[in-house]
Formats: sequence, structure tokens, C-alpha cells
Amino acid sequence: KTIDTTDCLEGIESVCDIEGGRISGEIFYDQKIYEQELEKVFARCWLFVGHESQIKKTGDYITTTMGEDEVIVIRQKSGGVKVLLNACPHRGNKVCFSESGSTRGFICNYHGWSFNVEGNLIGQHESGIYEDSNFDKSKWGLKEVAKVDSYKGLIFATFDPDSPTLEEYLGPMTWYLDSLFDNQEGGTEFVGGCIRSTYECNWKIAAENFVGDILHAGWTHDSAARAMLGGSVAKVSDFDESYSVNWNGHGYEFALDTVGNVAVLGDSQLNKYLHTIKPSVAERLGEFRSNMIGSVSSCTIFPNFSFLAGQNTVRIWQPRGPNKIELFTWVVVNKSAPQDIKDRWRKGAMMTFSPTGVFEMDDGENWEYCTKTAKGKVTAKQDLFIGLGMDTYLEDTDLPANVYKGQLNEANSRAFYQRWQDLLQAKSWAEVPNRNKGKAEVEK
Ligand code: FES
Ligand code: FE
Repeated sequence: KTIDTTDCLEGIESVCDIEGGRISGEIFYDQKIYEQELEKVFARCWLFVGHESQIKKTGDYITTTMGEDEVIVIRQKSGGVKVLLNACPHRGNKVCFSESGSTRGFICNYHGWSFNVEGNLIGQHESGIYEDSNFDKSKWGLKEVAKVDSYKGLIFATFDPDSPTLEEYLGPMTWYLDSLFDNQEGGTEFVGGCIRSTYECNWKIAAENFVGDILHAGWTHDSAARAMLGGSVAKVSDFDESYSVNWNGHGYEFALDTVGNVAVLGDSQLNKYLHTIKPSVAERLGEFRSNMIGSVSSCTIFPNFSFLAGQNTVRIWQPRGPNKIELFTWVVVNKSAPQDIKDRWRKGAMMTFSPTGVFEMDDGENWEYCTKTAKGKVTAKQDLFIGLGMDTYLEDTDLPANVYKGQLNEANSRAFYQRWQDLLQAKSWAEVPNRNKGKAEVEK
């Protein structure tokens, strides 16, 4: 069977039986599927574009991409944030070449059109010549992305005016996000710059790794863990209590009460810090979530925003073709943490999850080969197994979202690919099925 991409990928069901625990290698190396993903996933979903702490004052900006569309995320006089296409509306030239900065506006290199912080066209080289051309300046500003919103410092944007609200999109996953992004008064901030690297892998392989594939850690990262952390990470399943939770294709997997059991980045001072804040986290978020901090965990917010709470690394898997990603990585810390602790998180992330980090290299090699093998037309049609933990759904739990027992479980991976498939097949948001069966309410 071959995927028919002509009609909203209806044929994809014949090669991916997600409920049956089976996907096809074809989805990782196909240009037509990739084009559909840019339209039906990346141009529709809420995408992470930056952290509030990166753009504090009017005119502060960062540049990033939403799918392959280049955008500028810029703080407004009003205090709000706009996300503008980084493309001049004259001939489409890029108007901002810097990764971040502070500005009063942007001037295009090609014919000198200039734009203010709001993106309005305010001037041109030889501006008098446009007067005879029925030129309405007010209509030719930098194009604004349809919707921008933020959650606990995390800024998201979507190109689709018909998308659900960010609150609806994230759903009860916010309850779990708070364990990293709101565990102390003052919230979080990004420290240091954006680390950029490229991998020759499909974006879904990386996003899925973070949505719920702790299984690989004990094997892939074993030798690096012994060298870096002074011991094996193969003991993940030893924790008494661990969960995989998901909602709308987002997934978070975590073990409880691991602070003290696991050396966070092998740094005893970071462990000490987490022990110190634990009582105040319990007061703020309750006992359960206080046991999540610093735990062996990972999360992906669909489609391509991920983080590791224990390592405080936050990243976007930017799609650059079916077989390439650009990885944007930042380090997130509690604003209220002592400077020494912030520095330790940053250095720890460099040693583990950065282009020179030991764990990142382990992952990158695996992901690249998972992608490359799918280049072979016969190999691409091979069934891939994602059926682990089929009967682990927890009916009777007070926890929000769809909750599954254990971390060594592919429930989140299945939910991730299901959402991906649903979006590719749906002609509009209204056609995207609601497959959630857990609690939608979040206790505040
Ligand atoms: Fe920007 Fe012409 S392309 S001014
Ligand atoms: Fe890994």
C-alpha cells in the first residue's frame, strides 16, 4: 500500500493503524506528506515562538520560524506582543537578519521600505514616486500572524484565525506544565541565548521522543549517564509511581519523588536547590506536583515544542524538509533562583542537551538513522511497532487529561501520531475529532 496524498491523506489510515500500534516508515521521508504537514499542522496549530523574558521592553524582538515561515516576535508599546512575518510586502525580502535585539523598526535592504514596531509601513526610499500609484500605505505593513497568546511566560502564535483558543488547545496539560513553569513566585525566565543546530531527521521523530519515549534513555544514554551522572539511568522503571498523560496530541511523562534519587545533571547543588524549594512548591501546587519537580520527565506540546523538566532544556524542532530539522534550544530557570543555580542549569544543559552535549549526540545519531532508513522505498513500507502499554489507561483517577500508568509506555506516542493523522485528514478545525476521554477540568 502506498499513501495517497491527493485527498487530505485519506490513504494514510491504510499504512498507519495507530490504535493497532502500528505506523509506517513512509511518514518520515515523504516530500508530499511534508508539504501537507506545513499546511495542515504548522499553519494551523498554536506554535511556541518565545518566552516573555526574552522581550521585556518596547521594541525588544526575537526572530524564529513557524513551520518554515520566518517571523519576528516583538514587544509593543501597549505591553502586548505582535508576531509579524519577517518578509517585506514589496518583493518579499527578509527585513530582520538578527536572532534578537531591540529596535525602533525595520528597514528593508532592497528598496528601502521601513516599518515601525507595530509593523506599519512608515516610509520608503523615494517615497514621492508612490503617490501616483493609488498606493495606500496603511495596507502594506508587515503581515501579522492571526493570533498570539501566552501561558505562564510561554508565548504561542497561530496562523489560523479559526483555531481554538490557546487555553482550549493546551487543555488540562497546563496543570502539568505548572510544575516547571510556575513552581515559584515570579515564574520562569530563559537564560543565555538560543542554541541552534541541525539534524538530518524528520521533526516527528524528535517531537515523539520527548512526548513519551523515556524507554530509550536507559539504553541509548546509559554510557553517557555513567560518565556524566555517575550512575545508570536504566532504573527509570524502579520508581513506584510514574505516568504518561496526554491531551490533543500533547504528552508529558514523569516519575514521582525522584528528587534526591536522581542526580540532576550530576550536580548536587541543583539537587539541594530542588530540595529547598520543594515545601513551597507543595504549598503552591500541592503534594503531587511538588514530587514532579526535577523528576525524570519529558514533554511535547503538539506539534514541536518540547522540554525536559529535570534538565531545564526547552526546545523547538523546526521542520526544514522531510528529513531535516533545525533545533532551537534555550535554558529555562526560576526567576527567583540564586544566580549560581541559574548558571549551573545553563552549564549543565551545555554538557548534556546542546550540540556538544553528551545526551544530544546519542539522540541525534539514532534519529538521523531512523529517518535515513526510510529513504529506501521498500524499507519505508515496513511496519513500525508503537503498541507498548495498550491496556494501561487509568479510568479511576483524579488527575486531569488522559492518564496512563507508567512511563515505559507508548500511549503518548500513539496519541501524538493520532493527532497528526487527524489534522492531516481534517479539512478544518471543526473536522478534527475529539479523542480525549480524561478529565478536562484543571483545579486552580
Ligand atoms: Fe523590500 Fe522592495 S523588497 S523594499
Ligand atoms: Fe534522549
